[in-house]
Amino acid sequence: MIEHDRILILDFGSQYTQLIARRIREEKVYSEIHPPTQSIDWIREWGPKGIILSGGPSSVYDEGIPTTDPDLLKLGVPVLGICYGMQLIAQIEGADVIVGKREYGRAQLSINESTDLFAGLTDEESIQVWCSHGDHVDQPPKGYRTLASTEGLSVAAFGCEDRSIYGVQFHPEVAHTIRGDEIISNFLIRICQCHATWTAGAFIDESIADIQKIVGTGNVICGLSGGVDSSVAAALVHRAIGDRLTCIFVDTGLLRKHERENVEQNFNEHMDSQLIVVDSAKEFMSALVGIEDPEEKRKRIGHVFIDVFSQVTRTETSGADYLVQGTLYPDVIESVSTGGPSQTIKTHHNVGGLPEDLPFQLIEPFRELFKDEVRQVGRELGLPDNVTGRHPFPGPGLAIRVLGEVTEERLAVLREADAIYLEEIKRAGLYDDIWQAFAVLLPVRSVGVMGDNRTYENVVALRAVTSRDGMTADWYPFSPDVLSRISSRISNEVVGVNRVCYDVSSKPPSTIEWE
Ligand code: XMP
Repeated sequence: MIEHDRILILDFGSQYTQLIARRIREEKVYSEIHPPTQSIDWIREWGPKGIILSGGPSSVYDEGIPTTDPDLLKLGVPVLGICYGMQLIAQIEGADVIVGKREYGRAQLSINESTDLFAGLTDEESIQVWCSHGDHVDQPPKGYRTLASTEGLSVAAFGCEDRSIYGVQFHPEVAHTIRGDEIISNFLIRICQCHATWTAGAFIDESIADIQKIVGTGNVICGLSGGVDSSVAAALVHRAIGDRLTCIFVDTGLLRKHERENVEQNFNEHMDSQLIVVDSAKEFMSALVGIEDPEEKRKRIGHVFIDVFSQVTRTETSGADYLVQGTLYPDVIESVSTGGPSQTIKTHHNVGGLPEDLPFQLIEPFRELFKDEVRQVGRELGLPDNVTGRHPFPGPGLAIRVLGEVTEERLAVLREADAIYLEEIKRAGLYDDIWQAFAVLLPVRSVGVMGDNRTYENVVALRAVTSRDGMTADWYPFSPDVLSRISSRISNEVVGVNRVCYDVSSKPPSTIEWE
């Protein structure tokens, strides 16, 4: 088995920390995110080929701020500090950090010298970078030199004279830093001398061997949501142990039009193991009566899911020893860092967020993967594009897209509008260009006119975004004719809707879902 080179990311609480891990993996190098409080001995043992100190919301002079052992810089392992990470290096090395003077947004970076970090980047006079900081450094520490600057920052990047330690004040991991990938690649390949071995093929071979070793002759069940993650997880485990896998699909009644039939059909076409479908719409609907608060909806849906799933596993799959879940790395980090420096924006309920007292041992083959890596694994396993290329769908389903109270009637209206929207997007050949598209039913009514009659009906909002990973997103620029076809079909065909709006908000400051 290949020993993959590893990069350690110490998380000081930036909203972008996961993006750093993501970018590193895109370069086929393995990386993990850990708290900055890990001891030097732990870090040595973990064996990183390089260490990245993330950004974070704090100021190095604040009380009780996240910090790290200064000996980190003496390990002989290359270090790159990003934003707060750079300021921390400066502080450890005895330089001043200037507090205040917020800078947020795009800036033009002029590179002073084409050193290792910026190799190949001086073919342009300046490159666009993304800044988001309150503090900064305006003199490199002793023994360091300035590698790049912007109009507002005399030291936008520094490097140590005699050790591989670098700091950048901007965010190379964010897509708005146009050539950020090259900067990260330079750090990984040139400076840390990592080998690019982390591929989907290698991952599949290693996971299959692991699953076979863990499961032995046992039986496995898998909670299937129909989404990419659980479908690919099921396919992977199926490849490892064949028909000793049983899948369970819970119909929450909060699914999109024809979702259940699609899941069943795809399953039957690609797997020869058993699928148990549980119809629990009633239980979910009664838990949602009178509930308007988004977080409360998520919590209640999570609880019902746990009850239903536990019940089915007790009655229908006795004899199974293992449970597969399509948990992804962002979910793992989110739960690990709850209470840590990163702030939780929404409580994500992932179908499959089950309690620990179930009598199963968990198998989570994607605990270390991001969504597009899972898609790659799915393609490699031979799953069709309509499974691997599906837009993400949240665990709480349409309940967080019917804003306000969820009722059968409102769900039915949303389902129809959403189906037309997706149908038109596919017809226009745009589905694969979009990260996620869906309709939202707003809790307001508007006045309209149909024929000679005044109407007072629902408003549907349409959302479509492009994104690399759901962490940041831009609204999708449909052409007017596509939007107008979608709008007129929805108002004409969906009874109860007389107005359609298009959401032109990016993330941040908005989120992708409305609730
Ligand atoms: P937000 O709305 O936070 O969404 O910008 C980012 C991505 O996460 C999905 N999402 C969820 N997925 N359970 C899930 O499994 C959830 O509770 C949940 N909430 C949001 C969202 O659809 C988008 O892809």
